[in-house]
Amino acid sequence: MEVPIAAPPPLVRLDGIRKSYGRHAPVLDDVSIAVQPGEIFGIVGRSGAGKSTLLRCVNLLERPDAGRVDVAGQDMLALDPAALRTARRGIGMVFQHFNLLSSLTVAANIAFPLAIAGTGRTQQRERVRELLGLVGLTDKAEAYPRQLSGGQKQRVGIARALASRPSVLLCDEATSALDPETTGEILDLIRGLRDRLSLTVLLITHEMAVVKTLCDRVAILDRGRLVETGAVFDVFTRPRSAIARRFVAEVIGDDVPPGAAGRLPPPADHEECRVLRILFAGPNSTRAVISEVSRRFRLDLNIMSGRIDEIGGEPFGLMAVAAYGEPAQIDAGMAWMQGLGLDVTVHS
Ligand SMILES: Nc1ncnc2c1ncn2[C@@H]1O[C@H](COP(=O)(O)OP(=O)(O)O)[C@@H](O)[C@H]1O
Ligand SMILES: [Mg+2]
Repeated sequence: MEVPIAAPPPLVRLDGIRKSYGRHAPVLDDVSIAVQPGEIFGIVGRSGAGKSTLLRCVNLLERPDAGRVDVAGQDMLALDPAALRTARRGIGMVFQHFNLLSSLTVAANIAFPLAIAGTGRTQQRERVRELLGLVGLTDKAEAYPRQLSGGQKQRVGIARALASRPSVLLCDEATSALDPETTGEILDLIRGLRDRLSLTVLLITHEMAVVKTLCDRVAILDRGRLVETGAVFDVFTRPRSAIARRFVAEVIGDDVPPGAAGRLPPPADHEECRVLRILFAGPNSTRAVISEVSRRFRLDLNIMSGRIDEIGGEPFGLMAVAAYGEPAQIDAGMAWMQGLGLDVTVHS
């Protein structure tokens, strides 16, 4: 008899979170997310969408007006101040502008939360050495923040966030102040730390490229509301909301170059020209579908754009083609490709 394996309870759960400042429109309006242990969960949204406020509700730097916050099985809003301080040690936080103390060395910055928690000096030194190794800054212990590059400063910020051995890491635009190459290095570091330390990561960003590189799941926040949540691959390949499509287009690129449709030759009598957007993902992604559909359904296919990409290790391709043929043949060709599991839509 098979024993069903129950999914582990989420490590971070926000339920029905609401927050307003004064009499303005709510900054967060009934937001719920559940982050599984070991997951890297991204929340993406434009500036002002409420991302930072939402992240700060996890460790109660911001108290929601309504809703529930559970972290590692604890009802955070029910904790007394001492219990909340303890719970916060289980939640590390990394900031866009690093928030380092300029008068302290790297080692002292990293030791800062340990000193506040009353950790002994010897233990502090030992832990700082470990943390410097983890983030690759062993030779910078005695440097001051002003002597470091942006990427190195963020490594210090990450080491400090991990000092108290948290199970959850919150990242507020952790790479938004960094150049693309350094961003890549920091994202690799975060992924490596998740794997080595079994961290659960909740990150917010306005950059879909960060989500594509790093996250397992993503939620899209727009003006205080969650508009879409899903596996990164699904949201990228089949965005359901207009805002998700816009975010995805930033990374995947516009599949039909602007103006290209206007330059297409007109169809012959009794024929039609239909621009199709074909998404290849899964087992048929490499099949020579285009030439086969052309032969089988007597269609002339004019490839307007195409790209092959990879998200979360899965290949996918996106192609825009102008299909010329009899309308019924185009319908049949579309149905045939859909039968192979390809996502085929008419480009409007
Ligand atoms: N302490 C505050 N007082 C008043 N308004 C605030 C405060 N914090 C944030 N807001 C407002 O809430 C909205 C969301 O802000 P924020 O959570 O920082 O968004 P994001 O991180 O997505 O850019 C913004 O309109 C911002 O002006
Ligand atoms: Mg913010």
